[in-house]
Amino acid sequence: MIAWFLLFACFVDELNAATNLLYNADFESSNFNGNWYALGCHMTQSNDAYHGHHSAHLSNRSQEWNGIAQNVNLTAGSRYKTTAYVKLLNTANNKAYQSVTMMLNCKDGSGKDIYKYFGTTQNVQPGQWCEIGGVLHTSNGYHSCHIYVQTDAHTDYLVDSASMELVPYDSDWKSHADQRIEQHRKADINIKLTGNGVNTSSVDIELNQTKMEFAFGSAVSADKIVNHSYAAYQKVFYDNFEWGVLENALKWGQMERSKGHINYDRPLNAIKAMRSHGIKMRCHCAFWDKDYFTQDWVKALHGDALRSAIHTRIQGVTSHTKGMCEQWDVNNEMLHGGTFEKLSGDPNITMDMFRQMHAADRHPLLFLNEYKVISYSECAVAHKDTAMRYKKAGVPVGGLGVQGHMHNIDIHVIKAQLDILAEAGLPIMITEFNVNDKDENSRASKVVNLLTLFFSHPSVKGVLFWGFWDGQIWEKDAPLFTGTNVTPNAAGRAYQNLFHNQWRTSVTHTIHGHEQYHVRGFKGEYTVKVKHNGHILKTETFTLSDGGKTLQVHLNGNTGGTPSVSHVIVG
Ligand SMILES: *[C@@H]1O[C@H](CO)[C@@H](O)[C@H](O)[C@H]1NC(C)=O
Ligand SMILES: *[C@@H]1O[C@H](CO)[C@@H](O)[C@H](O)[C@H]1NC(C)=O
Ligand SMILES: *[C@@H]1O[C@H](CO)[C@@H](O)[C@H](O)[C@H]1NC(C)=O
Ligand SMILES: *[C@@H]1O[C@H](CO)[C@@H](O)[C@H](O)[C@H]1NC(C)=O
Ligand SMILES: *[C@@H]1O[C@H](CO)[C@@H](O)[C@H](O)[C@H]1NC(C)=O
Ligand SMILES: *[C@@H]1O[C@H](CO)[C@@H](O)[C@H](O)[C@H]1NC(C)=O
Repeated sequence: MIAWFLLFACFVDELNAATNLLYNADFESSNFNGNWYALGCHMTQSNDAYHGHHSAHLSNRSQEWNGIAQNVNLTAGSRYKTTAYVKLLNTANNKAYQSVTMMLNCKDGSGKDIYKYFGTTQNVQPGQWCEIGGVLHTSNGYHSCHIYVQTDAHTDYLVDSASMELVPYDSDWKSHADQRIEQHRKADINIKLTGNGVNTSSVDIELNQTKMEFAFGSAVSADKIVNHSYAAYQKVFYDNFEWGVLENALKWGQMERSKGHINYDRPLNAIKAMRSHGIKMRCHCAFWDKDYFTQDWVKALHGDALRSAIHTRIQGVTSHTKGMCEQWDVNNEMLHGGTFEKLSGDPNITMDMFRQMHAADRHPLLFLNEYKVISYSECAVAHKDTAMRYKKAGVPVGGLGVQGHMHNIDIHVIKAQLDILAEAGLPIMITEFNVNDKDENSRASKVVNLLTLFFSHPSVKGVLFWGFWDGQIWEKDAPLFTGTNVTPNAAGRAYQNLFHNQWRTSVTHTIHGHEQYHVRGFKGEYTVKVKHNGHILKTETFTLSDGGKTLQVHLNGNTGGTPSVSHVIVG
C-alpha cells in the first residue's frame, strides 16, 4: 500500500513538473537575447533583475504592441500558462499607473492573425515589479505563434523570470479531485468507551454532521428573505445553504443614494434574520469600483472631501454590522473599475480602505473580489499579484474572492487558474457562482463538476451561488430551484445530493466493549448521540477540523442492564 502510494506520488510529481517552453526565460544566458526579440522597438540587457543578475530593457516603443516577444511552438488544442515579471520605468503621460498584458499572436489555417489574451495586470505603478500572465486554451489550427508583452506606448519596461508551461490535461481529473477531497475535507474521528461499564456493554453511536467547515451559500434578496409572502424561498434557503450574502442591499449606492440619507434597516433586518438561523455572512460590498454603480454625489467629490466620504461610509457601515460579518468585500471589482483610484488620483486608495475597514472591525476577513478570474482568462495572475503586493505592503488582505459567473467551462484551465491564485497563500472564496446553461441536465453536470473541483482544492474555502431561484436570480439560465413552490430542478437536485449526502457524514455504529471505533468524517460541526436499545443516553456536540477528534464515552455501572453515560470527553 505504501509502495503503491509512493509510486503514485512520483507519478503525480512528474505530471506537475512542467517544463519551461521559453528559451533564456530568466535572461541570464551569455549571449543575452536567446530567442527573445523586440517587436518594433529596442531591447538591451539590464542589471536590474527580478531574479538572477539580468533582465531585458525595452525602449523606443511608439505603439502599444511594441515590446518583447518570443516565438513558441504550440500543440493544437492544448492549454498553456504563461507568466513574467515586469517593471515599468515610466508611465504614459506620467499617469500614476497603467495596465500590462501578456498576449499571444498566431496565424489561423487561412493565415489570418489571431490575438489572444493570457491576462492583464491592472494598476501597475512604475518602479515596482509586478507579475503578468494567465492561462489559455488554444484552438486547433493555430501556427506561427509568438507571445509578447503589451502596454501603453512611450513607456519603457523591464522583463524578467518569464515562463510558459503546458497545463496538464488530466483525463482522470475527477478521481484525482475525489482523492484530494478525501485528504483535505475529511479528518479522523476515534471513539472509545471507558469506565467500568465497558466490559458487558455495547452502545450505539450516532454521528450527525450539522454544519460543514467548507462554506456553501447563496446570495439572497434582502426584501424576500424577510417578507412572509416568500416563505417557500426562505425555507429552501435555510434548508440548503449555510452562508448568505445580500445581492444588493449592502452596496453603498443602494444604501446612500443621496448623501446623508442612509438606509441601514433594509440590509440589517435581512442580516439579523439570517444570523438568527445560524447563517454566516459574507458582507458585500463596502465600495464598488465602477463608475456606473457609483452615486453622482460621490463622483463629484475629490481630494479631502472624497477621503472624508470614504471614511464616513466605512465608519457608518462597520459600526452597524460589527461582529455580524465573517467576510467583507472591500472595493468590489477594483481590477475592472478604478473609479476611486481615478477620483482620488491615488493608485493605493483601496489599500487605505482595507486598513480603515480592518481598524473599524477586526473580525471579518477582508477580500479582493473580481470577475474574469476563472470564468474567462484575464485576471487570475493580476488578482494574485494584487494580493501579493498588498501583503508585502502590510495591508490586511484576508482572502481572494472569485466571482465565477460561468459560461464556457474547461476544468483544466480553471484548476490552473485556482493554482495560480493559491500561490498568494490566502483563502479563496468562489463568491458569485452560477452555471449558465439553458438545459437543466447539462447545467446539473457542470454544477457537479465545478463544485467537485472547488471542494477538492485545498485553498478554496467556500462557494456562494449568486442566487438559486428563478424568481430571484440575475442570470436566467442558472437557477437551481424554480416556480412558486421553489422546487429543485436537475441542477438543484444535484447540488442537494452533494450538500446533504455525498459531502456530509451521518453514521450509526454499535461499539462493543473495548473496541475503538474509527471513521473519517467531513470537517464541520457534529452532534453525537450515545444510545442503548434505542434510548438516548447522552447527546454532545463537537467540531471536527484538521487535527481530528477523539471521543471517550464514559460508561458507569456494570448492572447488566442499561449502562449510564456520565460524560463524553471530546478531546
Ligand atoms: C531610442 O530613442 C532615443 C530617444 O528617445 C534615441 O536617442 C535612440 O537613438 C533610440 N534608439 C534606438 C535604437 O532606436
Ligand atoms: C518550432 O518547431 C520547428 C520545427 O520543428 C523548429 O524548426 C523551430 O526551431 C521550433 N521553434 C521553437 C521556438 O521551438
Ligand atoms: C471490567 O473492566 C475493568 C477495567 O475497565 C477491569 O478492572 C475489570 O476487571 C473488568 N471486569 C470484568 C468482569 O471483566
Ligand atoms: C411582500 O411581498 C409581497 C408580494 O410580492 C408584496 O406585495 C408586499 O408589498 C411585500 N411586503 C413588504 C413589506 O415589502
Ligand atoms: C503605493 O504603495 C506602494 C507599496 O506600499 C508604494 O511602493 C508606492 O510608492 C505607493 N504609490 C503611491 C503613488 O503612493
Ligand atoms: C443521523 O444519522 C443517522 C445515521 O446515518 C440517520 O439515520 C439519521 O437520519 C440522521 N439524523 C439526522 C437528523 O440527520
